[in-house]
Amino acid sequence: MRMYDIIAKKRDGHELTTEEINFFVTGYTDGSIPDYQASALSMAIYFNGMTEDERATLTVAMAESGDTIDLSAIEGIKVDKHSTGGVGDTTTLVLAPLVASVGVPVAKMSGRGLGHTGGTIDKLEAVPGFHVEITNEEFIKLVNENKISVIGQSGNLTPADKKLYGLRDVTATVNSIPLIASSIMSKKIAAGADAIVLDVKTGAGAFMKEESESVELAKAMVSIGNNVGRNTMAVISDMSQPLGHAIGNALEVEEAIETLKGHGPEDLTELSLTLASQMVVVGGKADSIEEARKLLEKAIEDGSALETLKVFLSSQGGDPTVVDSPDKLPQAKFKIELASKSSGYVEEIVADEIGNAAMLLGAGRQTKDSEIDLAVGLKLHKKIGDYVKTGESLLTIYANQEDVSSIEAKLLDNIQIVEHEVEAPSLIRSTITE
Ligand code: URA
Ligand code: CA
Repeated sequence: MRMYDIIAKKRDGHELTTEEINFFVTGYTDGSIPDYQASALSMAIYFNGMTEDERATLTVAMAESGDTIDLSAIEGIKVDKHSTGGVGDTTTLVLAPLVASVGVPVAKMSGRGLGHTGGTIDKLEAVPGFHVEITNEEFIKLVNENKISVIGQSGNLTPADKKLYGLRDVTATVNSIPLIASSIMSKKIAAGADAIVLDVKTGAGAFMKEESESVELAKAMVSIGNNVGRNTMAVISDMSQPLGHAIGNALEVEEAIETLKGHGPEDLTELSLTLASQMVVVGGKADSIEEARKLLEKAIEDGSALETLKVFLSSQGGDPTVVDSPDKLPQAKFKIELASKSSGYVEEIVADEIGNAAMLLGAGRQTKDSEIDLAVGLKLHKKIGDYVKTGESLLTIYANQEDVSSIEAKLLDNIQIVEHEVEAPSLIRSTITE
């Protein structure tokens, strides 16, 4: 088999066989196929697409290109959730204890990474004592006992995707639905998921800005999942503004606790319940979305979701009393209100730029060696569609530096107030449940 022929075949719009796709993935991973041939193939795929069979084959080949996590020692259907990324997305912290409390095992491998705030692990480390340095044996034991544990990412997962994504990034071939879908799904499968729920964001603060593209990506991933034996569902959700009120590590932990108590922000609560309902159905603990939703609402009302969070935190060294006393979480030295310069309706809150402001305060990493300040961040008091009076606070800045004038200017630049009424964007755009 020659890579040249595979490139030519895809260039001419034909379907590649399983052997050809495996040949490419294996050869590119071991270095026997050079970058220039892989970039030519990526560009041919960009223009000519991939059939459902090709997508499934590419996904499995990339998933098997390195280590895979074996979660078979955990009882039940292991459901993983993936979000395409947004600002102030606190859903994982809510979902994990929530679905675990109704019996869906959560065996989560998580990372740190760059961004507006830390990753799930950084956020959890805001809880004094909490750590993810546990052995695989401990991880599996904890999930079997408590239905929930989080471990740090380790091992050489999906090296083919790592290499190909890096190459696509510099050859203008990231934006291809079959390549994005197989990239994301390969990572979930390598991490041991039996079933997958996807939160595909749409809008200005999302990776996919156009709703039609978000829907297309979601459908592509759901098809791949179902074609490779992983029951998969998806939610298309709004990311034209940050989710919830809090953006920051300790602030988001507190927000998740409030949500599990039943008084979180409306949007975060709704998205969490929507995603959790799908997780409970694909996890086999309810027959319908409606039945799942009732179970979850009850788990919030009767305190069992909150209790699961306490057990989870203390099982990994964390202080569970933060749940009742969130003031034990890291606290910023300065709390500064950002006053509105005019009266009117909030028309726009540019999610990315608000996220960048949080990062500049120290909530997220600009480079992989940056230190995170777990205490700092932002808490929004107004969302799109809300009325605000001149001088009223739009948001609170939680800072460990006294001078935040440049950050204040950036925030004001990215929150538009207009005179006419503005309709709040709808949060759940659509769901794909089969
Ligand atoms: N995120 C991924 O993980 N892969 C892509 O190809 C694009 C976004
Ligand atoms: Ca939030």
